[in-house]
Amino acid sequence: MARHLITSALPYINGVKHLGNLVGSMLPADVAARALRAQGHEVLAICATDEHGTPAELAALAEGVDVAEYCTRTHELQRSLGEQFGLSWDWFGRTSRPQNHRMTNHFARRLRDEGYLQVRATQQVYSVADGRFLPDRYVVGTCPNCGYVKARGDQCESCGKPLDPTDLIEPRSAVSGSTELEVRESQHVFLLQSVLSDRIREWVDSHDGWPQLTTSIAHKWLDEGLEDRGITRDLAWGVPVDPDDFPEAAGKVWYVWFDAPIGYLGATLEWAEDQHGEGTAESWATFERWWRTDRGAEDVTYTEFMAKDNVPFHTLSFPATLLGSGEPWKLVDRLKSFNWLTYYGGKFSTSDHRGVFMSDALDLLPADYWRWYLMANAPESDDSSFTWQLFGEAVNKDLVGTFGNLVNRTATQVSRHFGEVVPEGGEPGQEEADLWQRVDERLGEYLTHLDALEFRKATAALRALWAEGNGYLEVREPWKTVKVDRDRTACTLRNALDLLVVIAVASDPFVPASTATLRAAFPEVAWESLPLDAGLTTSARLAPGAPFVPPGLLFQKLDADVLAGWEQQFGGTP
Ligand code: 2FM
Ligand code: ZN
Repeated sequence: MARHLITSALPYINGVKHLGNLVGSMLPADVAARALRAQGHEVLAICATDEHGTPAELAALAEGVDVAEYCTRTHELQRSLGEQFGLSWDWFGRTSRPQNHRMTNHFARRLRDEGYLQVRATQQVYSVADGRFLPDRYVVGTCPNCGYVKARGDQCESCGKPLDPTDLIEPRSAVSGSTELEVRESQHVFLLQSVLSDRIREWVDSHDGWPQLTTSIAHKWLDEGLEDRGITRDLAWGVPVDPDDFPEAAGKVWYVWFDAPIGYLGATLEWAEDQHGEGTAESWATFERWWRTDRGAEDVTYTEFMAKDNVPFHTLSFPATLLGSGEPWKLVDRLKSFNWLTYYGGKFSTSDHRGVFMSDALDLLPADYWRWYLMANAPESDDSSFTWQLFGEAVNKDLVGTFGNLVNRTATQVSRHFGEVVPEGGEPGQEEADLWQRVDERLGEYLTHLDALEFRKATAALRALWAEGNGYLEVREPWKTVKVDRDRTACTLRNALDLLVVIAVASDPFVPASTATLRAAFPEVAWESLPLDAGLTTSARLAPGAPFVPPGLLFQKLDADVLAGWEQQFGGTP
């Protein structure tokens, strides 16, 4: 049994996430966690809401509520939607919790002691009308690079260029719209990434197995030269800088991108303290067993999931924090990154509410429909586009026509001719030997792709496994043979039911609610003794006469007019 730590990029707090956010981190992380658990490994799956920074404050401001209250409400909403989507986190924490505050200030102190932090005088935009500094997104103006007039102070949404608030042309306050802005001096703490650059490059290059998307992004930034980054802000909402450690930056908070990835550790500590009490030695030891390579985490494989815009932070600045601390923290081993899921070729957009959001999706259909479609079309090697037509095809062909059809045909024949038991009689022959050989091959391919985190290929292998069952039924035609050879028919249906047991175990990572329904059809199977491994087909044999309770229809077909209605409701072409 191996030990796996899994984190998905922490969803930002400003509202319900869309399907692009889901497929870019939380959903594949869940599929991987479920697959590893099914293989018998020890898994810790961690996520949290990323709650600091200007977007949180601005979203709260737009709703006219206090930011802490806004975050509490939205965290709860995201947690509930995640659970309804079957995301099987061991812990879903919050970066605003005290555990993350403690961890963040710990890393700041360590980096300072190791000589990687420096306080510098900087020029910041100050709004006289608002009586405050305006960091990052608090300033809007014209992009000096492309001329987009609604560029924000941290980045231009149109051309993607990272910006400083002072770069903007004709800047104005995002709070009040005031243009009465000045540039004032303010002291900030900088992380000396330039000094850490060689160590980071060496660490990046020590990973042969990273996907090309991951390494090419990391190398691009390293080749351009890592710049030192300001990691404090003139804001009230965030992790407060400890004034004893950094008196020059008293009253400021750490920058959201400094504390957010530390949130993986903070959330793990929340999980440990939830079990063993706040501040206890046992909690700390439980936490360290996953994160400190001198205290038990040396045998942990750590996998991170994220969309491509997050890769620089996870290959460069977060490792800079961990490496620069001078302490033996666990660093990522496998970093799975995703391209964009687009909505009809255009951007899913939270601000314009364009596309399908997690709450919309669950209003229409159960989570498994979405989980399957999204993973079968995951933007792995390239961007992929959501369309209602593609969604309908994935549901109707794969879930209804292949998986559902196999379950339904088998269950109908069994209950019609043999009652609610596993049929007894008949001897397996060459066709059964062929079936199980092909099933073993499919299962082998499936496991290989899951191990490699190649999700589209894994869904193709799983689909092929389902199809083997239908192929077998079509060759054996139990609906015909039952009239002339009951023993032969019993043998066919018993083998089909055995295959459903294999399929119930194998399909769980992608469609967990449906496999739970399928498992309930076999009340006497000891599921925990059936790990998802190469031996599954031999261990998954049902005793003749054991109970079988037909599970009912697992999936409903989506008619063209229903899909057309949704396309109209959500908007189609961009
Ligand atoms: O891109 C995002 O939505 C960020 N909130 C991801 C943060 S990942 C981690 F660093 F916390
Ligand atoms: Zn621009």
